[in-house]
Amino acid sequence: MSGAVTDPEVIARHRAMWATGDYPSMVETFLLPLGPRLVEMCGIGPGMRVLDVAAGTGNASIPAAKTGAEVTASDLTPELLEAGRARAQAEGVELEWTEANAEQLPFEDASFDVVMSSIGAMFAPRHQAVADELVRVCRPGGTIGMLNWTPEGMIGGLFRTMGPFAPPPPPGATPPPQWGSEDHVRELFGDRVDLRTLDREMLEITAFQHPHDYGTHFKERYGPTIAAQGNARRNDQEAEFNAAVDAFCDEWNLGSEDAARFEQEYLVVVGTRV
Ligand SMILES: C[S@@+](CC[C@H](N)C(=O)[O-])C[C@H]1O[C@@H](n2cnc3c(N)ncnc32)[C@H](O)[C@@H]1O
Repeated sequence: MSGAVTDPEVIARHRAMWATGDYPSMVETFLLPLGPRLVEMCGIGPGMRVLDVAAGTGNASIPAAKTGAEVTASDLTPELLEAGRARAQAEGVELEWTEANAEQLPFEDASFDVVMSSIGAMFAPRHQAVADELVRVCRPGGTIGMLNWTPEGMIGGLFRTMGPFAPPPPPGATPPPQWGSEDHVRELFGDRVDLRTLDREMLEITAFQHPHDYGTHFKERYGPTIAAQGNARRNDQEAEFNAAVDAFCDEWNLGSEDAARFEQEYLVVVGTRV
């Protein structure tokens, strides 16, 4: 199924999930390096028209705007855009903030020099619809750039751990970490994007003392984990869910019991719109 999700109730549920918890604090705790990395990989500079899709709190949009680019940060979840607007104001950066569904972008064809998404567009349910929209709004010769968690990496593992407990995904959804597979990305963009970078990198995380603190952080703040835990509770499986998340943290910890260290693998995708 490649068309966009159109059922307003399904979209509203998806949006509400991302507004739950405290995603902005997760960015500040360990995700900040990703935004500037994507900006660098896309070669963003002064005067470029840049669209950030599923921008959240502007982790990539704000550093892009700091280069002198004209940036539009778009996202499905107004609460996150609001937090981004406050962060941009505090940092004295100007950019546009627009509510938009990555599967049906409210922008003209070929209207941006760079269309990017940092671990964002990968979470829209219909991957082909998203790829088609990223291509449509980017001008020929422009750049499409993404950072996507990989299926084999830690977030791929987290989604596999949460899967048996989570509420059913929207109809026609593909699991988000598939966007971190090189073959999947090639298939989605086809010959419309000349992919010049498909490289895997690691985000190192040392923000948590005990390995289980990582799981607690997600259970308190990350919409998809909160949704899975809520569903597990309704099904009398909360103890199993908690045990599975603890075991997941232990399995992925590369540090010690007192100084946890994790690595989250992501795929860097950069290409030229043909
Ligand atoms: C993990 S966050 C990433 C946010 C930001 N790009 C960053 O690097 O921190 C995922 C984001 O995808 C957004 N999102 C999920 N589904 C979406 C959709 N269909 N259209 C637009 N944004 C969506 C969520 O609201 C959330 O802001």
